[in-house]
Amino acid sequence: MLHSLYSHLSPDYPWKALIEYYPTIGSTNDHLKALARQGAPHGTACIAGHQTGGHGRLGRSFHSPEGMGVYLSFLIRPDCAPTELMHLTCAAAAAMCDAVENACGLRPGIKWTNDLVFGRRKLGGILTELGLSPHGTVDYAIIGIGINCRQQEQDFPEEIRSMAGSLDMVTGKKNDPGKLAAAMLEALCRMDETLLTGKSAMLEAYRRNCITIGQEISLLRGDDIRRGTALSVDQEGALVVRFSDGRVEAVNSGEVSIRGMYGYI
Ligand code: BTN
Repeated sequence: MLHSLYSHLSPDYPWKALIEYYPTIGSTNDHLKALARQGAPHGTACIAGHQTGGHGRLGRSFHSPEGMGVYLSFLIRPDCAPTELMHLTCAAAAAMCDAVENACGLRPGIKWTNDLVFGRRKLGGILTELGLSPHGTVDYAIIGIGINCRQQEQDFPEEIRSMAGSLDMVTGKKNDPGKLAAAMLEALCRMDETLLTGKSAMLEAYRRNCITIGQEISLLRGDDIRRGTALSVDQEGALVVRFSDGRVEAVNSGEVSIRGMYGYI
């Protein structure tokens, strides 16, 4: 993977010396967070061949078997307040659609807020985590991305088999995790260039790729389930929903299921 990554990485990529590769690690996000606290510079990336404790949103685990996917975390240190990074997950998701398209020739969709999907299957996910300075500004932001590449259906644990997918499954060809990792780093680099100045354009790109908009959804928060229609994604990356009682609200927490996907009928 590493050899292929370096061979595909553009000579213009500015942070080549800051790529750290681990054959096996607990979680690239957790490791990069520890490095960030020790002062690792903007542009540091951790990539693993295998994660034993990969995790995602809502405390869920992210299945990260050896050689099957790209497990990558990227560190940025933007000089801003945390409220200026509300769109970070959306910006990263749109960047990952570009990366997958560039490396594999297929553009995934985004299921709000952080799932990369194709058809009814989840191809990967994004977990962003912020660390704050004592003054309350952003000290670091970590963008963790996992993308399933080489799996066939039987390679996924039974409990996610009907909803998970890989790039090999949806393209019908063999995809190269190293090439994809290079495209991901380049897309993150481009995203970083306009992260604070190009927010509207990034959210517009996110909306164009977001398959949740226009769908019937259910919102699960604790034991409470509400149904409605997803109308849009607002300037902060929140999902604007018209609920069945007629109220329109911007949702930025809880779990949103789309009717017809991941077992919601
Ligand atoms: C999700 O599906 O909710 C997000 C999954 C994010 C997984 C990636 S894999 C690389 C990085 N390390 C982690 O532990 N998580 C992210």
